[in-house]
Amino acid sequence: MTSPTYAARRAQLETYFDRTAVEAWARLTSDAPVSRIRATVRAGRDAMRAELLSWLPADLTGRRLLDAGCGTGALAVEAARRGAEVVAVDVSPTLVGLARERTASLRLKGCLDFQVGDMLDEGLGGFDHIVAMDSLIHYRTPDIVRALDRLGRRTDASVLFTVAPRTPLLTIMHMAGRLFPRGDRAPAIEPVGEGSLRRRIAAEPGLAAFTLARSRRINSGFYLSNALELARR
Ligand SMILES: C[S@@+](CC[C@H](N)C(=O)[O-])C[C@H]1O[C@@H](n2cnc3c(N)ncnc32)[C@H](O)[C@@H]1O
Repeated sequence: MTSPTYAARRAQLETYFDRTAVEAWARLTSDAPVSRIRATVRAGRDAMRAELLSWLPADLTGRRLLDAGCGTGALAVEAARRGAEVVAVDVSPTLVGLARERTASLRLKGCLDFQVGDMLDEGLGGFDHIVAMDSLIHYRTPDIVRALDRLGRRTDASVLFTVAPRTPLLTIMHMAGRLFPRGDRAPAIEPVGEGSLRRRIAAEPGLAAFTLARSRRINSGFYLSNALELARR
């Protein structure tokens, strides 16, 4: 069972990434020209993807990897190039459709299986690695930790994820965002204090077998995100 706050946020994100923002997101994740501001976001996201991929073994042959909240599938493709058997899941059917289209003609060492659904669905099976790049940033800290617990149970080696660090600027943007009329708002990004996240993870019995290993903040213009690695001890 997921919490009511998790389910409500997932429903908002599905609407946002499947309808409201789908065109902007398709463009941002392509090579098409974008505004200067969005170019900084694209560069930051490229750097974040490269960082997360560098935390995985160079040879992923035969390893099962879940791209949790895959969007248009960029990370999934890179993992499959390195030999992984990738399951890539997203709540947005439109983005998953786009990911399938973009990857249909690629020849990859591993394989790619795109699915529409919730990353926490146990039916997706077990994995060596799970990567949730910028897909948990809209959830509240207790829901992030519960999600990590659920993902951890299905992971043999590591869960890589990102959070939005709690900085004064992000806190102001978060509060300002609440002033917009409801219909115009993107689902808020929930800033996370690293200390509180670490304490909650340490206190979560289901995550006792994991240690918080690497941590790396990427900041590029309007993109700010913090990668963390939960590694099985
Ligand atoms: C900011 S985008 C990042 C997409 C991709 N990871 C990337 O970095 O390009 C967040 C994605 O997470 C997806 N998402 C959010 N909550 C999800 C959930 N509970 N299960 C599956 N996908 C989810 C959204 O639909 C959206 O495509």
